[in-house]
Amino acid sequence: MPTAVKTIKVTFLPEGKTCEFDPETLPYKHHGRPLSLLDVAQNFGFPLEHACGGNCACTTCHVVVKEGEEHLSEMEDDEADKLEQAPGLTLHSRLGCQAIVSGDVVVEIPAWNKNYVSEGGGSQLGDGIPPPSNKR
Ligand code: FES
Repeated sequence: MPTAVKTIKVTFLPEGKTCEFDPETLPYKHHGRPLSLLDVAQNFGFPLEHACGGNCACTTCHVVVKEGEEHLSEMEDDEADKLEQAPGLTLHSRLGCQAIVSGDVVVEIPAWNKNYVSEGGGSQLGDGIPPPSNKR
C-alpha cells in the first residue's frame, strides 16, 4: 500500500494565508535557505519582505512564531546575532529566510512589516521602519 504524501502547512498571519505543500517536491526559489519560511512564501507568491535577498543580513523577514515552533530548524548563531537588531524582538521571533520548516507552523508578520505585505512587499531596507508602539 503506498504511503500518503506528507504535506506541511505554513500559515502567515494576520492575512491567514495558508500554504500547503509536499516538502519533497517544493522547488527552491533562490531566496533564503531551501524550505525556509521565506522559500515557502516565495513559492506561493506571498510577499514576505526580504530586503537582503534571504542572506541573513537584514531583519525585514522577521516573523513571530505562534504555533509549531518545534517544526522549525534550530536557530544558528548568525540568525540569533541578526535578530537582536530586529524591532520588536520576542522570545518567539525568527528570521523567515533562516528558519527551515519540517512540519505545520503558524507565524505572524509583525505589525511594522504589515504595510510592506499589503503593498506587495516592494520596499527596501532602510525605508524607515517605525519602532513598535506597544512598548511599556
Ligand atoms: Fe534579510 Fe532574512 S531576508 S535577514
